Amino acid sequence: MQGSSTRQLPTNKDNVPYLTTEQGTRVYNNDHSLTVGPRGPILLEDFHLIEKLQQFDREKTPERIVHARGITAKGYFEVTHDISHLTSAAFLNGVGTKTETAVRFSLVTHGRDSPEGLRDVRGFATKFYTSEGNWDLVGNNIPVFFIRDGFKFPDLVHALRPNPANNIQEAWRFLDFLSFHPESAHMMTWLAGMEGIAKDYRHMEGYGVNTFTLVDSEGKSTYVKFHWRPQLGAKFMTDDEAQSTGEFQMRHSHATHDLYNAIADGDYPKYDFYIQTLDPKDELTLDFDPLDCTKVWPEEDFPLQPVGTLTLNRNIDNFHNESEQIAFSPSVTVGGIGLSNDKVLQSRALSYADTQRYRIGTNYQMLPINAPRCPFHNSHENGAMNFMEKSGQVNYWPSTLDDVETSPASKEAHTVSKDEINGQRVKQDIPEEKQNDFKQAGDRYRKMSMRESGQLIFTLSNWMADPKCTPEIRHRWLDIWQQARPLPVSLCN
Ligand code: HEM
Repeated sequence: MQGSSTRQLPTNKDNVPYLTTEQGTRVYNNDHSLTVGPRGPILLEDFHLIEKLQQFDREKTPERIVHARGITAKGYFEVTHDISHLTSAAFLNGVGTKTETAVRFSLVTHGRDSPEGLRDVRGFATKFYTSEGNWDLVGNNIPVFFIRDGFKFPDLVHALRPNPANNIQEAWRFLDFLSFHPESAHMMTWLAGMEGIAKDYRHMEGYGVNTFTLVDSEGKSTYVKFHWRPQLGAKFMTDDEAQSTGEFQMRHSHATHDLYNAIADGDYPKYDFYIQTLDPKDELTLDFDPLDCTKVWPEEDFPLQPVGTLTLNRNIDNFHNESEQIAFSPSVTVGGIGLSNDKVLQSRALSYADTQRYRIGTNYQMLPINAPRCPFHNSHENGAMNFMEKSGQVNYWPSTLDDVETSPASKEAHTVSKDEINGQRVKQDIPEEKQNDFKQAGDRYRKMSMRESGQLIFTLSNWMADPKCTPEIRHRWLDIWQQARPLPVSLCN
């Protein structure tokens, strides 16, 4: 039948062995514009030329506001240790339970084509397509963060990014901003230290950074931190190694090459998944705030508990569709896993979906890489590029004509925490006695080998040597380091 409603897959030579326009009309000449005589002018009626150029003109979507440089790989997660006593989330229950996943690794600061050997935080974002909807764990490769209130995130990113006047990243700018935020000292010991340049993505750790909650089927919450450990071990590069990787091998995409080629060769990277837990009733007994993401939970006090293993065994087929358009958010969660009151996490819960509606479009969640693998149904409607096939006359709820149900009330325990919240409205930092901004930074320094502390001091000195770094900024930082751990006198002069 002519015009049958059978949907064709988008253009692919396996479906159609000849070229067509976007409308499916066969192309008879793909070499030349339609002109008056062989020397032109070109005729406006050459709709094929116009379509080709206009489509090209719109090829690029806005890049991510942060973490623009990255690559996605696909695979599966398998539970090795049941944690049903902590969470009702089905995909974490039952040893051997497997869940399809997609992971995007990234660098934070620079643009989508920037070098992968830069000293920068790396992202480790995992989408679990669970049987109960998607869960996104959007983490980094450093376990702490610069700030403990999301209100400051735009300023932080502006300071880290290139100078708006000359488009060059200059250390004095982030040293200036962060000198007002001594809570960043701990993060700086990672970023400026040996861990500041991850070797590649196969040898990279991942951390949820923020504190989340696991909620059991009775509604009891447990605070949790998430960790990924690569089975190949974590490896880092010195500045010299990073430079030679980037320049001598002329591969500013070395980490993407490494991941893509390993998967193509069947050498699948694996990462073990661990949790640390804390009963909320003990949260006030610590000398730091466990919801402050500038702190780690020391592993001697909060041992890592194994949960499962992630295997990356498939490369993406198309970078734009599956890496540029993949959309993660800490707010994408399933029953049994919740957020905590961590102020960075709460801001993140808004920001990601907001930017994705702008950067990809209103209906970004329908794209194949983002859509859940389980059935989904709601009364959301329309919007640009809505390609969902819908039928029926009832697009509201409840309705006498449509018996679609919500989950049984008993399931509410899985999603809604029973914690009570009350207090005054304030705009304040966390209580001073819990800020403890220098101890963990100092502890880390004291545990470093000579080589590690040497790298840290080398990077910090280099940053402070930026000719635009004023004496005031230098003194503010020396004061911070003095409070974390007294420095050699030579550095203070
Ligand atoms: C208040 C603090 C933060 C805000 C407002 C924020 C906001 C954002 C935004 C808007 C994006 C771009 C998302 C997109 O275009 O798809 C993003 C990406 C990302 N953020 Fe954050 N972020 C914050 C802190 C953090 C922290 C603490 C982590 C680590 C745990 C983190 C990890 C990531 C990762 C891994 C990505 C890239 C996801 C991907 O691969 O698509 N962010 N963030």
